[in-house]
Amino acid sequence: MAALQLKDPEKNHYVEKLQRHTGLLSTKLEVWKHFKDKNAIVDFGCGNGHFLESYLQLHPSFSGLGVDRRFKRLFKTASKIQKFNDSKVFFGDVIEFVESSPSDFWQEVWMMFPDPWPKKKHLKNRMIHSKLFYQIHRILKSGGRFCFVSDHFPYWDFFIMTNYKIRLFPVSRAVEGDLFKGQHTSLFQRKFESQGLPIYSLEMRK
Ligand SMILES: C[S@@+](CC[C@H](N)C(=O)[O-])C[C@H]1O[C@@H](n2cnc3c(N)ncnc32)[C@H](O)[C@@H]1O
Repeated sequence: MAALQLKDPEKNHYVEKLQRHTGLLSTKLEVWKHFKDKNAIVDFGCGNGHFLESYLQLHPSFSGLGVDRRFKRLFKTASKIQKFNDSKVFFGDVIEFVESSPSDFWQEVWMMFPDPWPKKKHLKNRMIHSKLFYQIHRILKSGGRFCFVSDHFPYWDFFIMTNYKIRLFPVSRAVEGDLFKGQHTSLFQRKFESQGLPIYSLEMRK
């Protein structure tokens, strides 16, 4: 289980807790096998799993996968979502995951409040760039959708402008605010909304 190793695992009890959780898929191969031919949604940077839990409750035909690189958050997600059609979690980097995912595979790809890295020197940490945009399009099934919510205007604007230029997704909706209001929220969304901060959302269909 190479991906699940820390320099000093003693410091984080959640490494072992997550390793023992039956909701964890340890390799990408297991992920492709588990979700093949399923109506599946993947949440990139799922955090504590609040969004996936409420989404899967509302959409009983879906099976979900949460991807994150924080042990405790992923453990919490696994515990919340396993009951919904044998939903799972995967520990790893979103960029690596998306690049090796099979094409035309996921019905929905969600990203809720990915970490913004506004400083130039942090550019290498940024999850959001054109390569990722192409990859998300590639891994979605025909008719599938990419949904995005963020407090970070430049990310939202980047997706809209990129799609405007290259016309990758034929159908696109975007609002300053929440396109999915009243349906489901994530933990970070609640935090931002409780502080009265603006959020931006979009939905693109393949
Ligand atoms: C700001 S939190 C948002 C969590 C959740 N989506 C929400 O809205 O409540 C961003 C999450 O993305 C994860 N994350 C950031 N970059 C990542 C990457 N490259 N690969 C995997 N997870 C990543 C972080 O560990 C964190 O849990």
